[in-house]
Amino acid sequence: MVENSHTADHSINRLVVIGLGLIGSSLAVAARNAGLVSEVVGISRRTSTLDLALEMGVIDRAEQSLAAIAPQLGRGDVVVIGVPTLTVPSILEDCHKLLSAEVTITDVASVKGSVIDAAEKIYGTVPAQLVPGHPIAGSEKSGVTAAKADLFKDHRVILTPHAHSTEDHILRVEKLWQSVGAIVSSMDIKDHDEVLAATSHLPHFLAYSLVDTLAGMRDNREIFRYAAGGFRDFTRIAASDPIMWRDIALANREAILTVLDQIMDDFTEMRRAIDSGDQNYLMDVFTRARDARNHFGKLIESKALEQPMSEKIINYTVSPGGEARGDIRVPGDKSMSHRSIMLGSIAEGMTEVTGFLEGEDSLATLQAFRDMGVVIEGPNDGRVVIHGVGLHGLKAPEKPLYLGNSGTSMRLLAGLLAGQSFDVELTGDESLSGRPMARVANPLAEMGAVIETAEGGRPPMRIKGGNKLNAIDYVLPMASAQVKSCVLLAGLYAEGQTSTVEPAPTRDHSERMLRGFGYDVTTEGSKAYLSGGGSLSATRIDVPADISSSAFFMVAAAITPGSDITLRHVGVNPTRVGVINILRQMGTSIELSNQREVGGEPVADIRVRYAELNGIVIPEDQVPLAIDEFPVLFIAAACAKGETVLTGAEELRVKESDRIQSMADGLVTLGVDAQSTPDGIRIQGGKIGGGEVHSHDDHRIAMAFAIAGLRAENQILIHDCNNVATSFPDFVGLAAAVGLTINMDTAE
Ligand code: S3P
Repeated sequence: MVENSHTADHSINRLVVIGLGLIGSSLAVAARNAGLVSEVVGISRRTSTLDLALEMGVIDRAEQSLAAIAPQLGRGDVVVIGVPTLTVPSILEDCHKLLSAEVTITDVASVKGSVIDAAEKIYGTVPAQLVPGHPIAGSEKSGVTAAKADLFKDHRVILTPHAHSTEDHILRVEKLWQSVGAIVSSMDIKDHDEVLAATSHLPHFLAYSLVDTLAGMRDNREIFRYAAGGFRDFTRIAASDPIMWRDIALANREAILTVLDQIMDDFTEMRRAIDSGDQNYLMDVFTRARDARNHFGKLIESKALEQPMSEKIINYTVSPGGEARGDIRVPGDKSMSHRSIMLGSIAEGMTEVTGFLEGEDSLATLQAFRDMGVVIEGPNDGRVVIHGVGLHGLKAPEKPLYLGNSGTSMRLLAGLLAGQSFDVELTGDESLSGRPMARVANPLAEMGAVIETAEGGRPPMRIKGGNKLNAIDYVLPMASAQVKSCVLLAGLYAEGQTSTVEPAPTRDHSERMLRGFGYDVTTEGSKAYLSGGGSLSATRIDVPADISSSAFFMVAAAITPGSDITLRHVGVNPTRVGVINILRQMGTSIELSNQREVGGEPVADIRVRYAELNGIVIPEDQVPLAIDEFPVLFIAAACAKGETVLTGAEELRVKESDRIQSMADGLVTLGVDAQSTPDGIRIQGGKIGGGEVHSHDDHRIAMAFAIAGLRAENQILIHDCNNVATSFPDFVGLAAAVGLTINMDTAE
């Protein structure tokens, strides 16, 4: 979150922990073990606790009050308030009276709004030295005897700095937690209290309540004797410290009441469903919950609301050389996976999808529809079952739909949601938040949708519900399947016939899949049209392997002497085969066999063998047909004889990164003669050296440079490859299976 200023010194001198409960004493002993601080001072009113802490080696020095040590504290010293939430204000009073403004103050309370309110009252305004914090770690055990030096290792610590908290103090607190192995994130104070009310406070109250109810039953001994398994798992936290939880309940009153009201409504509904034998309701709730639990760590931890301050970053180190031989099937097509969820959700009946891509992008789409009340089972080994709700059955989501890195999700959803009766907000990660959305917001506005975007037509997109859409005839200003699909999806909700005309053919999966769902879509040359007001009927979808993911291995074989690779069951829709056409034109031997049609999409096995490559002028009509494959095609160009020239590809500048610049920079670093132009690139084939390149947070840049390793003279280090998970889970595993050596390591 904060750029580290190189000159500032954020080292910690003395650590003072007030309150030696589980969290305070665990932090004290962990910091002591880490050797980060010169002295760990423990403060407790009870001498027995202090004696124990000294004896156990939790602290270096014991004091009964802050007053005893305060005069010795100054810049570089950190005071941690580790007392129960409602006691924090009285400690803050002491801090106000006794500590200089140089001393960094933090706390570990589970509620942050009450800490800030107290500080404001006591200090008049929140002091710059205060950086509230909350370690998401603990146990049902309490007290100094429960201290655990590794309690925070790999656990999250959320800091909720106030606008007044200054960088120097924030960085010091961040450093303290990192030194004991924690992963530090930052969050807005109000968000923190709301999220924690739902994910931590509510479960505790449910556990206390359940145990108390059972304990109050007449034959409680019998009940507890047979209460194993689920009861034990669910109620472990009811053994937690009552004072701590009483304080949390009172300090976070409002947020807790909101979630309690919600769960009580849900209980009432569940009671009704059980009473009336409403099987569907029960299946819906249980399926949704099970799948959310299994597949959405992010959802469960509400990570979407957090801005990571430092996350473990995955880097690839690619050893030079290797080969590309084997027979593999890459994961499912991303474009079709997105569309299968979208259309399955608004269809009538149950759609079964196989071959679904379990990558972060398509999972973001899947989660968005779950958030709008659609029951979706899976994914289990690429199998997903969608319980369609019909064109008008989506429900208003409770929070903004978070679409991660996925441009396809946001642009297609904008069209599909423009005609709903409810308001919705679409958000995404940093990369998606920088991408242009006016290209979809403009035609949708022409149709009568009311959409707000952030400055420059960027996300988030706020779509107002309840607007009647009118059909339009839209001439696309750029070749974009996302824009075309967006308009056609909005057209499902518009009165009359909506048409799109594209300047060059782009992928037509939306049109084909809509037909697969029994919806009438006509294509005449560059024009596609449909009429609103129909309905989609559930179907079966077999998603073929993604030609965009296959492209990495096609190029791997194309550039490496002796290679021979077969890629199975690849989608070879004519609007996607630019990579085959371009590689063939450069000299690669590519054979398609076993060609067939699966669910309206052509599929084939593709065999690629090495042959010497020649540089070419890439025909502009191939650009939309290979739009996602250029990063790796540039690697082929770097290995070819002579010059390769690409023009007419300015769209590459607004993908997950500016793909022209990202590739040009990386290629130059590796010693390749590459020059970017406004709408393309010129690459002189020759030798690839080695060195450090950056993915620019773009999955396809990371994978392209990994393939370059096959012809590199030295090792290539690729920074920040986490994004590969958006489209190609287990890329590294599959690469290893065909003969590449990519090591993954993590860095802070
Ligand atoms: C996609 C269309 C393409 C492509 C993207 C997926 C789709 O974007 O780059 O990865 O699924 O419709 P544009 O249509 O904006 O070119």
